[in-house]
Amino acid sequence: MRSHSCIYVLGVAVILGMLGPSSGTESLCAAYAPGDIIIGILSSVHANIKDLQPWILPDLSVCINFDLITFVQALASIHTIETINDSGFLPGIRLGYLMCDPCSYATKALHCVEHMLAVNRSLTVLSDYSNLRPPVKVFLGERYTETSLPIRISLNPAVQLFSFQISCTSSASVLSDKIRYTSFFRVIPSNKYQALALAKLMSHFNWTWVGVVYLDDDYGKGIFENFLTHIDKEKICLAFDEVVPNYPDTTQDLKKVADLIQSSNATVVLLLLRVQQVETLFKEMITRNSSKIWIASNTWSLARYIMKMEGIHKVGDILGINFITGNIPGFEDYLQNLKPGPGARNDLINEYKQIRFNCSQQSEHTSPSGCNVTNPQEANDDYLLQAVDPTEAYNQRVAVYAFAHGLKKLLECNDTACSGETDFQPLKVKFKSNAPLSLSLSLSFFRSAELNSARG
Ligand SMILES: *[C@@H]1O[C@H](CO)[C@@H](O)[C@H](O)[C@H]1NC(C)=O
Ligand SMILES: *[C@@H]1O[C@H](CO)[C@@H](O)[C@H](O)[C@H]1NC(C)=O
Ligand SMILES: *[C@@H]1O[C@H](CO)[C@@H](O)[C@H](O)[C@H]1NC(C)=O
Ligand SMILES: *[C@@H]1O[C@H](CO)[C@@H](O)[C@H](O)[C@H]1NC(C)=O
Ligand SMILES: *[C@@H]1O[C@H](CO)[C@@H](O)[C@H](O)[C@H]1NC(C)=O
Ligand SMILES: *[C@@H]1O[C@H](CO)[C@@H](O)[C@H](O)[C@H]1NC(C)=O
Ligand SMILES: *[C@@H]1O[C@H](CO)[C@@H](O)[C@H](O)[C@H]1NC(C)=O
Ligand SMILES: *[C@@H]1O[C@H](CO)[C@@H](O)[C@H](O)[C@H]1NC(C)=O
Repeated sequence: MRSHSCIYVLGVAVILGMLGPSSGTESLCAAYAPGDIIIGILSSVHANIKDLQPWILPDLSVCINFDLITFVQALASIHTIETINDSGFLPGIRLGYLMCDPCSYATKALHCVEHMLAVNRSLTVLSDYSNLRPPVKVFLGERYTETSLPIRISLNPAVQLFSFQISCTSSASVLSDKIRYTSFFRVIPSNKYQALALAKLMSHFNWTWVGVVYLDDDYGKGIFENFLTHIDKEKICLAFDEVVPNYPDTTQDLKKVADLIQSSNATVVLLLLRVQQVETLFKEMITRNSSKIWIASNTWSLARYIMKMEGIHKVGDILGINFITGNIPGFEDYLQNLKPGPGARNDLINEYKQIRFNCSQQSEHTSPSGCNVTNPQEANDDYLLQAVDPTEAYNQRVAVYAFAHGLKKLLECNDTACSGETDFQPLKVKFKSNAPLSLSLSLSFFRSAELNSARG
């Protein structure tokens, strides 16, 4: 029944526009704020699904592994929406949002999108899609390409024609194909450029004998295949290339990868993995005495908690590549005074606060002073800032502003009012925005010795 409560919320958003949050507890929608125009946010705050059974409906799967990085990214989108709303950037228009957590699973991502687009409960009964005006006008996309792709190739004509997605972090170059993915916009460069930058970086340091470990999904395979096209020119040879399967628990696979890395005479290892897998692999490497030079792709190069792992200095040096980041005004304050905005519901903030401040939780993220806290929901500290680099969420801000600039034009806003029709067809928004797009890559470097002394 929980999927219905999500649609209920949507229906209310369309008809009344301004009703308070639903009292329904577990629903497919993890966060919601009403508005005249609703932005859909797809964000895998949970990295896994327990007992995945995609063939059973209704979907009773439980999402696990709360991911602090994605959580902060989702919060950056929400914070930016609230900032735009409060600033009068779109006079008289209130931006709302509806957020769904696909828990890193492609099938669940499709569910999310179909639920968010559903008008009056069903997409399939409409005979003419050209008049469909879903309440959600845009999707802010997924972090991992794997869950972005199927949304674009969904067979549902409504999903195909009327959703379009701005992706902040999906970098697969296949998404540049504008014929197949007519409505996919991204605010970061294609992973073609990341692959080239990685190859140039290795050749710059004369690292010609390298190992690569990549995830068996569009992201990992995409960068790896692009990387292969550059290695001849840059005179790089592969000591090994190992693919890690794309399913929830890869601990055993990563142990074998650790054996391989340890036994190889290559000192440089490129990891094109999800951050949780890097953490598992490093836990394993820390117990072994084999120091390497690690090269981080954008998925994990800014994960502060990896750099703070117990004994991380034993793994060697870590050199990472990422997209240009920037400051989000007011965001650090927001993270230290975390609460849902006025009229909004946010189950993820509730869940995070339980993890952080409820003494009976056995999480690595639980605060030592948790047992002194009487109401976890009221508690706050700077833990998120310690664990995650908030500048990594900058692209979320860029994406929301790109859409808002498009809206301002479509709705013919001047300084005091917007005269256009707010219930427009999504594809009408044009993304020729003035918003700054971050189209370059940046380098980050963590020397294990420095890290160690910084921590001590
Ligand atoms: C949006 O702005 C209006 C004022 O324009 C304010 O009343 C409302 O609480 C804001 N909503 C959110 C979610 O920030
Ligand atoms: C949805 O239902 C409402 C009320 O039943 C109706 O007025 C509206 O036209 C319906 N919208 C669509 C797109 O079918
Ligand atoms: C790489 O090798 C070349 C030729 O052997 C040498 O001139 C250059 O200084 C080396 N670069 C680095 C960063 O070690
Ligand atoms: C590493 O091993 C390979 C063969 O396994 C060998 O060809 C290569 O010369 C070795 N490299 C070094 C630096 O020892
Ligand atoms: C790693 O090296 C340290 C000292 O260099 C030694 O005490 C320890 O036993 C070694 N551990 C393993 C697993 O080889
Ligand atoms: C703490 O968590 C437990 C279960 O994990 C729950 O029963 C309890 O109500 C929570 N306490 C508070 C104060 O939220
Ligand atoms: C919990 O509260 C007690 C009494 O106020 C205080 O002495 C103690 O240091 C607190 N513990 C933590 C971990 O903050
Ligand atoms: C803004 O637009 C509204 C409606 O289109 C119009 O009535 C108003 O005069 C405009 N204000 C300014 C400052 O141009």
